Amino acid sequence: MDKISQETPDLTQENIAKIAALFPDAVTEAMDADGKVTLAVDFDALRDDLSGEVVDGPRERYQFTWPGKREAKLEARRPIKKTMRPCPEKSKDWDTTENLYIEGDNLEALKIMRETYAGKVKLIYIDPPYNTGHDFVYDDDFSKTRAEYDAESGEYDEEGGRLVANPESNGRFHSDWCSMMYPRLMLARDLLSDDGAIFISIDDNEEQNLLKIGNELFGSGNYVGKLYVQVNPRGRNLDRYIAKTIEPVLIWVKNYTCGNSLNLIPKDSRMLSEYDRKDDKGSYRAIGLRNRNQSFNPQTRPNLYFPLWISPADGSVALEKDEAHSVERLPLAADGTPTCWTWSKSKIQSENNYLFGEPCGNEWRVYRKDYLEEGSAAFTMAKSLQADAEFNNDYGKKRIKELFGSNVMSFPKPPALMNRILEIGSSKDSLVMDFFSGSATMADAVMSLNAADGGKRRFIMVQLPEVVDEATEAGKEGYTTICNVGEERIRRAGEKIRAEVDEASRQLELGAEPKPVPDIGFRVLRVDESCFKDEYAAPGQYEQAALDLFTDNSAEDALPLDLLFQVLPAFRIEYSAKIVEREIGGKACFDVNGGQLIACFDEDVDTVALEAIAKERPLYAVFRDACFSNDAAVANLEELFKTFSPDTIRKVI
Ligand SMILES: C[S@@+](CC[C@H](N)C(=O)[O-])C[C@H]1O[C@@H](n2cnc3c(N)ncnc32)[C@H](O)[C@@H]1O
Repeated sequence: MDKISQETPDLTQENIAKIAALFPDAVTEAMDADGKVTLAVDFDALRDDLSGEVVDGPRERYQFTWPGKREAKLEARRPIKKTMRPCPEKSKDWDTTENLYIEGDNLEALKIMRETYAGKVKLIYIDPPYNTGHDFVYDDDFSKTRAEYDAESGEYDEEGGRLVANPESNGRFHSDWCSMMYPRLMLARDLLSDDGAIFISIDDNEEQNLLKIGNELFGSGNYVGKLYVQVNPRGRNLDRYIAKTIEPVLIWVKNYTCGNSLNLIPKDSRMLSEYDRKDDKGSYRAIGLRNRNQSFNPQTRPNLYFPLWISPADGSVALEKDEAHSVERLPLAADGTPTCWTWSKSKIQSENNYLFGEPCGNEWRVYRKDYLEEGSAAFTMAKSLQADAEFNNDYGKKRIKELFGSNVMSFPKPPALMNRILEIGSSKDSLVMDFFSGSATMADAVMSLNAADGGKRRFIMVQLPEVVDEATEAGKEGYTTICNVGEERIRRAGEKIRAEVDEASRQLELGAEPKPVPDIGFRVLRVDESCFKDEYAAPGQYEQAALDLFTDNSAEDALPLDLLFQVLPAFRIEYSAKIVEREIGGKACFDVNGGQLIACFDEDVDTVALEAIAKERPLYAVFRDACFSNDAAVANLEELFKTFSPDTIRKVI
């Protein structure tokens, strides 16, 4: 029976296997740092394979690099022995919610989630530290050897103490920030779905570096552009020479050719007020039929330059002069320069009822009707300047004050901006992730938008348990970490949203359909040490003794639910799975997603229990080494499953 690996997969080895499949000669054996023989790429051979000529040494090439880049790259692929420990006591609606709140370093969280969530996240938004010289950057400390790293990892998390100040006087000021971002974005890319997109808030300090890193990792062809968000219309008075009013949000899609990665957004009320005319087909606005771009003229577009004839009696437009259509109109600019029409003669013929003529000053003009209700007319492309009043940073603080009564978070983003990003980058059933989530403004916005449009978007928030200074407002209110603030924000925002939906339902007119309350719960998970004992040093490389059944390899403090959450990634089952505790054959089991997985970590599992579990015919079944009552049970396990459920994939931990 298969043993479940205790670590995230070794991505370097996976990549080497892919190279080996294409270029067998470029893969060789080498000793690793611990003296074990592993596969490694022979880069000289690979270069030869790819160049078609003898290559001697590195060439000059276009690249963006900094001291520590290679370590940062390696860091993304380095496996870790960590798990997500469930915290039902901190969660809300544990049994039913599909939202997740993860406490821990996002690099570790992304590594643990990669197997299960690869290709599933539609929208990632992040608001990382901007590297202002005053904020803190997570110290991944790549200089450590594997053994030191394993020995130390986790040590800092409890205190949230691996966040270090990154002052401009640090000789590696920009390098450290790039090294922090690079592996996280590498992993983020893996999580994005084919139609997914990532939005990143940043400011002048690192915008150029972020653009280069993003283009390298996501591909410059997948760079969409940026939103310039007017976050401070009066300008920051701490700036020198130019008081900044905007902050960019950089956007990449996973796959530009996909076509439906980003949405058009609803027109705002100012734009809607342009639809100020009405006829029996609905509201419309008048758009001049003349092309105002003078490069389109009788020379460049001769077939679009011709006279139109207007009826002064009813405003109708014709291609030929007749008794009614007596007013001639050519596409001339105000100064008489000839331009051309935007519609061809055949379109004017077939869609003639959209056209009308109207006097404007002392001349007649030809217009087309653009109806609001028709197709995409009510929607528009997001503009690069995003200047709604509610995108002002003050609205971020305002929402926090409204929910908490005081400013418990230093730089919360305005919820309306998160809402705009959701409109552009998500659909109603999307999985949305923010792995620098702070006070969880994105979670608040996801719940609000779901309440407004009946969507079922789910969120995953990740946040380091950064310790809150006692002197701050959050500290005075009794919050010890930013995670406490984020979780409480989701609780309070969720209740407020529920109250608003209930109130709106009470006010409904008779017969109108009430809106449902969205999912306002969340499961809290904590990035933590593996639930398996440390004697299993390297997953996939078990000592024979450790493979013996009856050896209890779960850590003393590991609860059955902890074990379940540790094994879910091995089956690529999401952490939001429906989990029901059931007794099967007299033993305590977890039934995950209605029979997708049955996990039994109870004591003395005998053949009666095994037969009952096999008869449930789950897709997967998992047991604990030490749970079997005797040799007979172990020997019978395979037989029982072969008889009652041969297709069930069985594993032990
Ligand atoms: C600028 S704040 C985000 C604010 C958030 N957008 C909001 O509206 O409240 C950045 C957050 O990232 C967190 N952070 C920094 N390094 C992290 C890491 N390695 N893993 C997870 N969170 C981290 C910080 O604790 C901080 O709360």
